[in-house]
Amino acid sequence: MKLATLCKPGGLDQLQITNAPEPGKPGPGEVLVRIHANSLNFHDYAVVAGAIPTEDGRIPMADGAGVVEAVGAGVSEFKTGDHVVSTFFPKWENGPAPIDNFTTTPGDGIDGYAREQVIAPVQGFTHAPRGFSHAEASTLTTAGLTAWRALVVNGGLKAGDTVLTLGTGGVSIFALQFAKMMGARVISTSSSDEKLERLTAMGADHTINYKTTPAWGQRVLELTGGQGVDHVIEVGGPGTLPESIDAVRIGGHIALIGILTGQAGDVPTAKLMAKQARLQGLIVGSRAHQQEMISAIEANDLQPVIDRSFTLEEIADAFRYEESGRHFGKICLEF
Ligand SMILES: NC(=O)c1ccc[n+]([C@@H]2O[C@H](COP(=O)([O-])OP(=O)(O)OC[C@H]3O[C@@H](n4cnc5c(N)ncnc54)[C@H](OP(=O)(O)O)[C@@H]3O)[C@@H](O)[C@H]2O)c1
Repeated sequence: MKLATLCKPGGLDQLQITNAPEPGKPGPGEVLVRIHANSLNFHDYAVVAGAIPTEDGRIPMADGAGVVEAVGAGVSEFKTGDHVVSTFFPKWENGPAPIDNFTTTPGDGIDGYAREQVIAPVQGFTHAPRGFSHAEASTLTTAGLTAWRALVVNGGLKAGDTVLTLGTGGVSIFALQFAKMMGARVISTSSSDEKLERLTAMGADHTINYKTTPAWGQRVLELTGGQGVDHVIEVGGPGTLPESIDAVRIGGHIALIGILTGQAGDVPTAKLMAKQARLQGLIVGSRAHQQEMISAIEANDLQPVIDRSFTLEEIADAFRYEESGRHFGKICLEF
């Protein structure tokens, strides 16, 4: 079978396409899955670019979707031919988060899904939504579930709430889609006027260019009659958090998800305190959260937004495209 591996010390030119023997038969409690698609995340980029050190020869990619080819003894949840999608935390089935790192995450602490076949415990997968292509299903593991958990699980989003999304990457586009699906108002930002038009076409109620309106937090206050938003999908980190604190309503919720602008920085602590806002960090979600999200997606016919797909051999080009920031929504590998 064909696979991609990453040589130390990482870097896009350290990605190699190689061959390995087929993995054999699944053992008790395991499934053999033929992987047909991956989706790219900023986290996967940080691994392959060498910013997050990993083992020599690591198989990258946290998100994998495909078809069950065989099941081991005692497996009743899946059967041969089922379409499945991987889980970000194979060891977190349900309940409160038990883990604060990536040691069990495919494509980082363990081998990921940039390969044609894998044997994994059943907890490594859930059923994919009915009617989804493998590429569409692969977008759910990381980006989809992060947006779902931020808004629905942690945020308790309800119809009539107002949600602020930042930029047009994978997590933010899913957040826009889930928020509209749940009956919320959405304000979305982007650095590109062309992307703002696409956000409006997808249902964003207001849009702001964060490059030409650097005080976008104030603009959000104006757009909400001085109230601020109920939820912020905060993917920027230190460079955007001060504006997000301006934008949130008193007692609102900021889901601290990303670090696109850096790992650490100044937080306007007094303003956050005065806003009495809840700043909650999160990493993706549990397998049970993924199953709940997939039920909601099926009930509402939500379609992931895929900007472009590449082949497995083009994995480095796919990450160069992500690096360019030209994408809108998800980038996938299909094989
Ligand atoms: N905590 C978690 O569980 C979790 C899960 C998934 C992702 N994340 C994190 O969330 C972040 C986004 O991930 P992703 O996979 O969605 O990334 P992505 O698809 O690569 O998104 C990149 C997009 O973010 C926007 N962006 C960049 N700088 C920005 C800024 N200063 N202000 C507002 N938007 C900005 C740009 O949108 P425009 O081109 O429209 O300007 C860019 O196209 C990353 O830091 C990632 O590590 C965290």
